[in-house]
Amino acid sequence: MTATADQGQTAGAGASQGQTAGAVTGRGEIRGADADQGEIVGIAPAPDGPVSVIDYSELIPNNVGLATDRRLQRALESWQPKFLDWWASLGPSVPTRDVYLRTAIAVGRDGWANFARVPMEQYRWGIFLSERDPDRRVGFGRHLGEPAWQEVPGEYRADLRRLLVVQGDTEPASVEQQRHLGMTAPSLYDMRNLFQVNVEEGRHLWAMVYLLHAYFGRDGRDEAEQLLQRNSGDPDKPRILGAFNEETTDWLSFFMFTYFTDRDGKYQLGTLKESGFDPLARTCEFMLREEAHHMFVGTTGVQRTVERTAALLKEHDTDDLWDHGAIPLSVIQKYLNFQFSVSLDLFGSETSSNVASYYTAGLKGRWMETRRKDDHLLAGGTMEVPQVQEGAISTRTVPLLTALNLDLRNEYMEDCARGIRRWNRELDRAGLPQRLTLPHEGFNRKVGAFAGQSVSPSGELLDPAEWARLSAGWLPTAEDRSRVAALMLPHYEPGEFASWIAPPGVGINDLPVEYDYVRF
Ligand SMILES: [Fe+2]
Ligand SMILES: [Fe+2]
Repeated sequence: MTATADQGQTAGAGASQGQTAGAVTGRGEIRGADADQGEIVGIAPAPDGPVSVIDYSELIPNNVGLATDRRLQRALESWQPKFLDWWASLGPSVPTRDVYLRTAIAVGRDGWANFARVPMEQYRWGIFLSERDPDRRVGFGRHLGEPAWQEVPGEYRADLRRLLVVQGDTEPASVEQQRHLGMTAPSLYDMRNLFQVNVEEGRHLWAMVYLLHAYFGRDGRDEAEQLLQRNSGDPDKPRILGAFNEETTDWLSFFMFTYFTDRDGKYQLGTLKESGFDPLARTCEFMLREEAHHMFVGTTGVQRTVERTAALLKEHDTDDLWDHGAIPLSVIQKYLNFQFSVSLDLFGSETSSNVASYYTAGLKGRWMETRRKDDHLLAGGTMEVPQVQEGAISTRTVPLLTALNLDLRNEYMEDCARGIRRWNRELDRAGLPQRLTLPHEGFNRKVGAFAGQSVSPSGELLDPAEWARLSAGWLPTAEDRSRVAALMLPHYEPGEFASWIAPPGVGINDLPVEYDYVRF
């Protein structure tokens, strides 16, 4: 409760420029993300109207005119203390004084983020939607060309609510999974990046809760409560999706998670950004802008790990780098194999009649729907999907509409491959012949056509006994995990880095790498 009251008075991250150490723009991070072309997420056409600035004088910062809807405002203000309680009990467990964080201050193309040292519990979580395009139309399905919906169509109410709840559930789940990582942060720079991801995942929960409250009445409010009651790994009330119930035990897992699993989130948000339900589309569009930083953390985190490993591998000519304070390349590959395969499961089965009806209804589009050159109805189209039959991997032809999960997964896999190439440049630069690779899509799968099959990383179908014999070479073993954990020694002095990871080339927002991004 106190935190809520404080939020009302302190200007928080948003408005308080006075004590800010850095510049106002988000250049450091945006540029970092820009440098990786794969991270540019579909930025909508620039709005014609003025860029809406977020109102920070409100208890709940927002750019949706919350003050003009007293009922909604009151409902959200009564949810806010529950969110803050959740953050206090399941958010980051390391006590800190303040953290150098960015907060959105406007949703426009430039200058949307402000940086300041903020006590984390006073972060200004709020509701930010991208600008409304008054001419926006439904871009696919049977309502193609109709004006985008500003209210929820009654017939799609249950489906839309489900989509929001599943998306919303993943956001706080990852904060819960990562809550103890601060204790073993390899540097203050990395710790700050972790916390930035955490506060933004908290804000993404706000994004979905706003839609539930604003458009789904009592059911929506109930769902918003449930989003705080389910918890990652809770045996009685777990999070909805399997990958969000695993604890993120070490920083290599965290970087792999932000690279592979957050990227699944990026692709799911990308399909919802196309939705005919305009408030959802605008919400997701803004979330994607924040998400770019999460991708940056994963891409560069693994890259810096590989950089250190490559240097020591070159020097000592052995994969056994434990005693040299680094992670063997073979173990990095295993972590990669694991996180990629569990993330593929998040896309669901290759074929799904639900996904076909979401598409036809105009609720959930394809990745970059508006840029695709086809009829956006897909009625007669077909697609090849994988199957395992008579001891071999082959394909079968299905109606395209039912295969949109696979369509999305294929886009995702292509994107994942870009990061692998980037990491391999570190090995190349060190003059090493070794390379990291993405495993076959059938490897270690629990969902879809490959579930229950024994597929090697190179795509061979094996008998289960052989798979069991070889899998310790492909997936992290308990011993691998404990040896990685043993390297995770905290480094809390500004400019210091753990032995297993190289420092970044540049700091956040043009600040030096040695800046004290977190204060205790
Ligand atoms: Fe998120
Ligand atoms: Fe994220």
